[in-house]
Amino acid sequence: CGIVGYIGKADAPSVLINGLKRLEYRGYDSAGLAILDHDQVRVAKSPGKVMNLKEKTRHDWTPELCRQSAIGIAHTRWATHGPPTEVNAHPHLDQSGDIALVHNGIIENYRALRSRLEGKGHHFYSETDTEVLVHLIGDCDKGDLFQAICDALHQVEGTFGIAVLSAREPDRIITARRGSPIVIGVGDGETIIASDAAAIVAHTQRVIYLDDNDIAIVTGESVEIRDLNNVPVTREIAELSLDAAAAEKGGFDHFMLKEIHEQPDSLANAIRGRLDHDIGSSVLAGMGTSPRELAELSRVVLVGCGTSLHAGLVGEYAFEDLADVHAEVEQAAEFRYRNPLLGSRDFVVAISQSGETADTLAAVREAKQKGAFVMSLCNVVGSTIARETGRGVYLHAGPEISVASTKAFTSQVAVLLMMALKLGRGRRLSRDEGIRFARDIESIPTLVSRVVAQSERISRIAEGYAQNEHAFFIGRGPMYPVALEGALKLKEISYIHAEGYHAAELKHGPIALLQEGTPVIGLALDIPGKDKTLGNIEECRARGARILGIITEGDDEAAEFMDDYIMVPKTHPLVSTVPAVVALQLFAYHVARIRGCEIDQPRNLAKSVTVE
Ligand code: G6P
Repeated sequence: CGIVGYIGKADAPSVLINGLKRLEYRGYDSAGLAILDHDQVRVAKSPGKVMNLKEKTRHDWTPELCRQSAIGIAHTRWATHGPPTEVNAHPHLDQSGDIALVHNGIIENYRALRSRLEGKGHHFYSETDTEVLVHLIGDCDKGDLFQAICDALHQVEGTFGIAVLSAREPDRIITARRGSPIVIGVGDGETIIASDAAAIVAHTQRVIYLDDNDIAIVTGESVEIRDLNNVPVTREIAELSLDAAAAEKGGFDHFMLKEIHEQPDSLANAIRGRLDHDIGSSVLAGMGTSPRELAELSRVVLVGCGTSLHAGLVGEYAFEDLADVHAEVEQAAEFRYRNPLLGSRDFVVAISQSGETADTLAAVREAKQKGAFVMSLCNVVGSTIARETGRGVYLHAGPEISVASTKAFTSQVAVLLMMALKLGRGRRLSRDEGIRFARDIESIPTLVSRVVAQSERISRIAEGYAQNEHAFFIGRGPMYPVALEGALKLKEISYIHAEGYHAAELKHGPIALLQEGTPVIGLALDIPGKDKTLGNIEECRARGARILGIITEGDDEAAEFMDDYIMVPKTHPLVSTVPAVVALQLFAYHVARIRGCEIDQPRNLAKSVTVE
């Protein structure tokens, strides 16, 4: 979900709607905004996209009203409680109708709070936990909105990032966070509140990140931050490095296609200045460990969700192969609740594009609690996970807008390879091997350009696969996680039921599903295990499957096995995961485009999952 709040000079509705558009990628099944019209709160809401909301305000509100309104709050919603209807959309109002609230997160004890308030005569219109929260604030309001919010938040269990305005205190917005990010942009005579800096960057580069349990009184000229016990706290003003232009489509039909094409650059940014070719190692100051500590680490644990989890799986191969260190990958939600065994020689790496994923953040906290050495690998600078881990390596991939992650994944893999190299050089990896591997990493952007250049050809191949409703992706070794990621990309954006399997696992069940023409996408690059994968592909062909192979340039022998193939350049097996996945990103993109899907904003998905 996304929050935007504005207080300043004028025309809050247009600032808010533009801000929402920038956040739409985070979750978007409905949207709404509230402004103050003299002593009245006015609300507009609409299911679907922000465009619908824009139409609605244009229809319902006069231009004069919009121009006069210099304060407002807005929200794009990704449904957690109740379907994405107009009535469930935010902002929600309290019983008096004077207080409006937008909320990210989940109020876990909302049922109990709701029945208590109903007992006091409150009437609820929606099924949301958010409406309960604003009623609770209204119930606590004895003439001081700030105090009322503190009192209400003390009674709440769960997570929140909120922005609140009241017709009775028209000179301020109050915002608070616990577990769900809030950034405050400090402009010139105007202040913007948002759940993501992307909504702020067009106005100012100066931002304040709230910490958990911070609550701020925001006016056009000031930001005053306290804790929930009303004790003042100080938070630094940080400078944003986000460029507003980077969040535009730049001539591409979709952000996803733009982001796929950006990968030669985003990878170069991830790698630049981080390799030391003389000693065959990498320079990752953010890892923050001395060579001795690195040598003494007994285990690497990689945690993440979704695509970031898949990057971790590639990392597992790299750490074991290059660094001779035991590595494990954990789904963050499983890790946080499983009471994992951890100690000071365990190196926990939290992988998260957004740096806000609730389960990954909780995994970080659990790992810190247990005394592990924790670092993060995030893309969003200043995100909660990046700040809470303290140590970490940023991806520098630039804003990733498409819900389906592409450039963040490849940068995650590139950074994990560099981390494994550094760890390896502190342990058993020889200088010569290190130098060779550093060169291979350096070549990634060029390898990726050679795949991106095949977009047209991949588009033609995609024509032959766009009508199917099922697909299987198979691979071995480091190509196994690539198969998982390829299947995830396809299902996310094309709604084709796609499964990724280890190539050897196919015959333990899934092969029963193969019929004449079922697509099997086989990752049969010229790396160890290729012959066995080709054998598995033969088994699929014998059952009538249609085979798309991802193979190594010039490997005519492998091409013989395939109905169609995409060639990727030859390189180190671990490094080849990157060009291979780019081929699958393009394949998924073109299939989805041919099927007419909403590529950048697939149904039911959100970019940043700040709920469990
Ligand atoms: C959501 C997104 C995925 C992403 C996952 C983890 O499910 O739709 O694309 O991989 O969250 O996000 P993170 O920001 O932690 O990498």
